[in-house]
Amino acid sequence: MQTIAIISQKGGSGKTTITLNLAIAAAKRGKQVAVIDLDPQQSASRWSRLRSAENPVIVGGHGPNLATLLERAKDGGADIAFIDTAPKSENAALTAARLSDLVIIPCQPSNLDLDAIADTINIANLAKRPTLFVLNNCRASSALPDQAAEALAEYKAPVADVRLGNRVAFVKSLADGKGVVESEPHGAAAREVERLHATVQHHVKKAS
Ligand SMILES: Nc1ncnc2c1ncn2[C@@H]1O[C@H](COP(=O)(O)OP(=O)(O)OP(=O)(O)O)[C@@H](O)[C@H]1O
Ligand SMILES: [Mg+2]
Repeated sequence: MQTIAIISQKGGSGKTTITLNLAIAAAKRGKQVAVIDLDPQQSASRWSRLRSAENPVIVGGHGPNLATLLERAKDGGADIAFIDTAPKSENAALTAARLSDLVIIPCQPSNLDLDAIADTINIANLAKRPTLFVLNNCRASSALPDQAAEALAEYKAPVADVRLGNRVAFVKSLADGKGVVESEPHGAAAREVERLHATVQHHVKKAS
């Protein structure tokens, strides 16, 4: 079973949006997917209550029982587990990172996010797991995403070529209990998520 943690100590960087959209993209490709929601805000768990489909399976958890939940997902036949984490939750984020094949760090192209990224990078470095930055919520025709990619290039983790745009589809689909590949399968947001799914698979396979 592949295990992928999405961590960022900064609130609102896009952890849950990326977790759920990648989970749906993987499920659409026939994978059995588990999402473990470590965030006490339970955004992913609340989203799952809007759905009737059984894949992905979403379960709530805490850092201390994460290893058990991952074992259970594996025994239950999951091919991939995504772990959504809370902001400002060093211990749980570190536990999630340590148990993962790949750590995804979403970052918005803003100084506020870039200034706060060091805390998250410290966690990924402590966990010593392969890490991938993903620029999220990028406005078209802005120089900020390129500048942010340059700033992130100073850290040793790669930055995903594909960036997620600032798109209403991401907000709207989650409010409807969907991922963008379900709600607008031919839209720009879905194309970005499909490309991100492929990039993530590339990095997970390279790491194993
Ligand atoms: N690419 C995007 N385009 C437009 N809106 C986005 C995008 N990504 C995230 N959002 C919106 O930004 C807000 C924060 O996103 P999200 O909840 O995924 O972040 P988070 O990192 O999980 O937040 P938290 O730290 O509170 O758990 C949400 O309202 C979400 O719909
Ligand atoms: Mg969240």
